[in-house]
Amino acid sequence: MARMEVDGKFLDFPEITGSENEKAIDISKLRSESGYITLDDSFGNTGSCRSAITYIDGANGVLRYRGYSIEELAEKSSFIETAYLVIYGHLPNREEYDRFSDLLTAHEMLDEDYRKHYEGFPRKAHPMAILSAMINTLGCYDPEHFLDEDVSHFDINAARLISQVRTVAAAAYRMSVGQPMMYPSPDRLYANNFLHMMFSQPYKLFEATPEVTQALNKFWILHADHEQNCSTSTVRLVASSGANMYASCAAGVCALWGKLHGGANQAVVEMLLKIQESGISVKDFVDKVKRKEPGLKLMGFGHRVYKNFDPRSKILQKALQKMLKASGQTDPLLDIAQELEECALRDEYFIERKLYPNVDFYSGLILRNIGIPLNMFTVMFAIGRMPGWIAHWKEISENPKQRIYRPRQIYTGENLRSYIPLDER
Ligand code: CMC
Repeated sequence: MARMEVDGKFLDFPEITGSENEKAIDISKLRSESGYITLDDSFGNTGSCRSAITYIDGANGVLRYRGYSIEELAEKSSFIETAYLVIYGHLPNREEYDRFSDLLTAHEMLDEDYRKHYEGFPRKAHPMAILSAMINTLGCYDPEHFLDEDVSHFDINAARLISQVRTVAAAAYRMSVGQPMMYPSPDRLYANNFLHMMFSQPYKLFEATPEVTQALNKFWILHADHEQNCSTSTVRLVASSGANMYASCAAGVCALWGKLHGGANQAVVEMLLKIQESGISVKDFVDKVKRKEPGLKLMGFGHRVYKNFDPRSKILQKALQKMLKASGQTDPLLDIAQELEECALRDEYFIERKLYPNVDFYSGLILRNIGIPLNMFTVMFAIGRMPGWIAHWKEISENPKQRIYRPRQIYTGENLRSYIPLDER
């Protein structure tokens, strides 16, 4: 029990303990009992829900999906199996896995009419804009089955989104470079199929190396969920109004786009390229960041929750090194990134603020080495995050006690004033 004194009156609030011993104070009765609300700009101290999907211990750099450590999943699982785990709460048995995989294959194609939608976008449209519009559009095809709230359609809708987000993304890229769309190939596994749709030509099929598909699988596994981050909170908020899965996930794509969130993977590589092209030393660049020059941050560093290494960044750094070793290549941008990391981790500014590399610090370099163009990086994040968004949509939609998300505010505007007619102002 937590006790608060407000205007001379004592109020008692229940304490909540999560399954990993996380503590919270349930203040849901605060306003009705005192007239006060809590103010927590940017939600740094606010638990917006109870959720059984993902656990993060930011102080110790721990991340688990449904109780499984991210390190073990990245090593042993595939993206599709992890997607099933995140959405349904357990690792699939063989029958469940085959059924899920077959559903993904059955729903990987887009309706041919989709071409018309793509033709409506300017050639230079950002693929994240196309992605969010197209995900919403998916819900318009066969709305009778896909837009309703009947949970029996959940499996198909989920499979359709996971499978088609990949088809939509690859098609957006092909259109942007004026190349014919490639149909998905039912014989290829998820990551390989995506790379085929991105890079095959009608006259020459693309074959990725196992190291490349492994790295891509890892990248997507590590992005599958991350509890109440900005885009997932957006999905939950939209879902809480009763909006369908497509609309909710399309909103998630928009939230992800920003450079403080999913857009950071693109921003990191842009930063590394700028350092390389300008010839500035890593130390001088870090000094500029520390001086807080306008618009300058060490992209890929810092996190609202992790005050230690983001476990995903370590796994991705190793995956990148392995991929480069297998292909016998080096990447000068990796050298710059590693030098930046070393420099920042020794520096008082970063130590004091507990700023460590986050998931985006090395992920962009993996994508770049796979051959993914820069403006597709955040789209790649969105493909990976889709199972998480769907799982959170499900959690909201299946909660019989769910109320619409509706935060309050402290109003700081004008007090009541009288309307003055236009000519008298
Ligand atoms: N470079 C330099 N200074 C930083 C950085 C950074 N990357 N991140 C935080 N700081 C400073 C910030 O200026 C502030 O300093 P002071 O105390 O002097 O005012 C202090 O550290 C606390 O930062 P904050 O902005 O209050 O932290 P936040 O929790 O609101 O923001 C963040 C978290 C991730 C948005 C932020 O660290 C950031 O902008 N990082 C760079 C962008 C990035 O890499 N984003 C990806 C996040 S992980 C994946 C994802 O969510 O998609």
